[in-house]
Parts: sequence; C-alpha cells; structure tokens
Amino acid sequence: MKVCINGFGRIGRSVLRSFLDADAGYREYFDIVRINGRTLSAKDAAYALKYDSTHGVLNIPVQCIDDGLFFPTINKRIEVTAYENVEILSDTLNGDIELVLECSGAFNKKSLLQPYFLKGGVTNVIVSAPCEKAEHAIILGVNNDRIEEVKKGHIVTLGSCTTNCILPAIKAINDKFEITAGFVTTVHAYTNDQALLDKSHKDKRRGRAANLSIIPSKTGFTGMISELFPKLGDKIGGASLRVPVANVSTVDFRFSANCKLSVELLLDCITDYANTYADIMALNSEELVSCDFNGCKHSCIFDATQSFVNDNNARIVCWYDNEIGFSNRMLDLCKMLTVHYKTIA
Ligand SMILES: NC(=O)c1ccc[n+]([C@@H]2O[C@H](COP(=O)([O-])OP(=O)(O)OC[C@H]3O[C@@H](n4cnc5c(N)ncnc54)[C@H](OP(=O)(O)O)[C@@H]3O)[C@@H](O)[C@H]2O)c1
Repeated sequence: MKVCINGFGRIGRSVLRSFLDADAGYREYFDIVRINGRTLSAKDAAYALKYDSTHGVLNIPVQCIDDGLFFPTINKRIEVTAYENVEILSDTLNGDIELVLECSGAFNKKSLLQPYFLKGGVTNVIVSAPCEKAEHAIILGVNNDRIEEVKKGHIVTLGSCTTNCILPAIKAINDKFEITAGFVTTVHAYTNDQALLDKSHKDKRRGRAANLSIIPSKTGFTGMISELFPKLGDKIGGASLRVPVANVSTVDFRFSANCKLSVELLLDCITDYANTYADIMALNSEELVSCDFNGCKHSCIFDATQSFVNDNNARIVCWYDNEIGFSNRMLDLCKMLTVHYKTIA
C-alpha cells in the first residue's frame, strides 16, 4: 500500500520518524512514498525531519535529492510536494497513492476530503483528529474489530491523542466494574495552534502565551466517549488544561463504580488489559515525571503510584506522549488496513 502524508507538522513528522524506525516493522507492511505540506520544500522537510527539539536528531542519515528525501542506509526515497489546495494535491496523486494520512488539521470534515477519492483515486483517508462525518472512528485497544467494516472510499478518524489515552483505561475499568459517573481532566502539552507570545486568535485563550500560563482549553474527547460507550455518554464529563510543557500529557480520571474498589483491584484489571493490549497500555510504578515519558509509543501509561480509592470512588492518572504515541497508532491503523485488504482480497 502506497501512502501519502499531508501536513508535515508535529504529527506528520512524528509519523514519518516512527515509520523509519526499523524496530517498529511498519515498512514491511506499507510504504510512505510522498509527503505534502502547504509550502514545503525538500530542503525544509529534510531539516525538519533531522533536527527535532523534542525528539532529538534523527537516527538515520537523510539527504535532500531533487524534489525528495533520500535515506541512503535503507535505500528509500520519499517525494516532497507543496500543494495547499486539496483538489490540486489530489490531481497529482495519479491514482498511485492508496492511502492518505491527513495530518494538516486543515481538512477535518468529510466534505473537504472528497477530492482525495474523486480526483486522487485513493482508497482510504485516515485523519489525525476527530473528523466530521467520518465513516469510522477507531480507537486501538477499544474497537479494533471495526476495521473489518472499512471499505474503499471510507474515512477513518483516530480521534485525538487524549481519546487514545483515556478510552483504553475506561474500557479496561468499565469491562470489570461498571462506571456510574466520572470526570476526566487532561493536562496537555501546548501545540502549534497556540501562541508563543500573546496574539489574536479565534479562541482567545489559545492566543495567549503558551509558555507562561495554565490555559483552560476546549476538548472533544467526551464526544468520542459517547460514540464508543453509548451507556457512559452522559455519565462522564471532561475538561482540558494546556500547560507550559512542549510534549507529553496526562489524564486525571475520577470515577465512581457500582461496587467497592481497591487499588489492588484496579491494578489487576489494568494489568490484565495491558497483557492483552501490550502496545496500547503500559504500567509505571516508579516516581516519574512527564518528560520521562517522552518518546513512549504506548497510548496510555497507567501510573500505579497515583491511584487512590475511597469505597466505590477512585482516581487514576495515565500519561501519554501526545505526539509519538498517537503517531504510532496512526501507523498501526495503516498496518491493520493493509492486512484487512489482503484478507478480503
Ligand atoms: N500535536 C499533537 O499532540 C496532536 C496529537 C494528536 C492529534 N493532533 C491533530 O493532528 C493535526 C495536526 O496537528 P499538529 O500538532 O501536527 O499541527 P502542526 O504542527 O501545526 O502541523 C500541521 C502542519 O500542516 C500544515 N498544513 C496546514 N494547512 C495545510 C494544507 N492546506 N495543506 C498541507 N499542509 C497544511 C502546516 O503547514 P504550515 O506550517 O506551513 O502552516 C503544518 O506543517 C491537528 O488536527 C491536531 O489536532 C495533534
């Protein structure tokens, strides 16, 4: 399967870095052959990929050749293009690209993504954010079997990075103890849609200096809880705080269950889940802080040192690298799609 990444920002770059990681094994399943950005040149793409303030220098050499990137140690070339307009970009896909990883944040609606199918002839689009009217929302570790319903022409969203952290934890707990009410607070690293210094922004708080304040922010993950756990939809609320940290976020989940809980019971249930979904959930029992999880590929790292229980009420904390964890789920989904189409062929 030939893949194009559209949008070479934090997520686009993290996806490509994770794809190039030999240990991850993604290259055996599909091939990223094109990256597209609004004004991206091959020279800029090589620089952005090689030097990353958060994740360090790329661990394999990258060269800039003509209109593309070349990785000599793995003999791999990736074309680089710059089309801001998705219709024009789609015209250049020539029916050659089967899957687009939409990572620009600019086209998070089904109507805006249609040119990929109608003009570009792609088979599917995976969107790196909640996407209006997408045919499927797949959160790995929660509803993996939904992949079997994906057909040509469908859009798949992975939801947000926060959704990918909290939903596996909710599933693990709710499968064993029925959750009767809950509230999720995500304490999230700042992102590029915030400002370094105060400036005008359609969301006033996102226009305030991200490195100077704790910033209350909007969040869409409760919508995804309702979609995937309809019985919990009106029982779990959520809020988000953006904090002056460049990467790695955490969720603080307080909930009540219909039975008496204990820290040991919670740990057992999370351990069982992590044994089944080892790529999705991990457990931490050391006294760590957010930067210790930088580069972590799991969607959700349950912090065993931060669980508190009082009768049938509990509080848990889970960490996530909002860039690398999420990007690995995008690539996992590409791999699952490749296998899915091979299976039904
Ligand atoms: N960052 C996270 O932790 C995270 C986690 C999960 C999901 N997401 C979601 O992933 C999406 C991207 O987030 P991000 O953090 O990677 O943002 P980002 O760093 O701002 O990257 C977005 C990239 O897309 C490019 N772009 C914008 N409009 C484009 C267009 N019309 N055509 C092609 N490229 C275009 C931008 O180019 P310019 O630089 O030239 O504007 C930028 O390089 C968002 O929907 C976000 O909600 C982000």
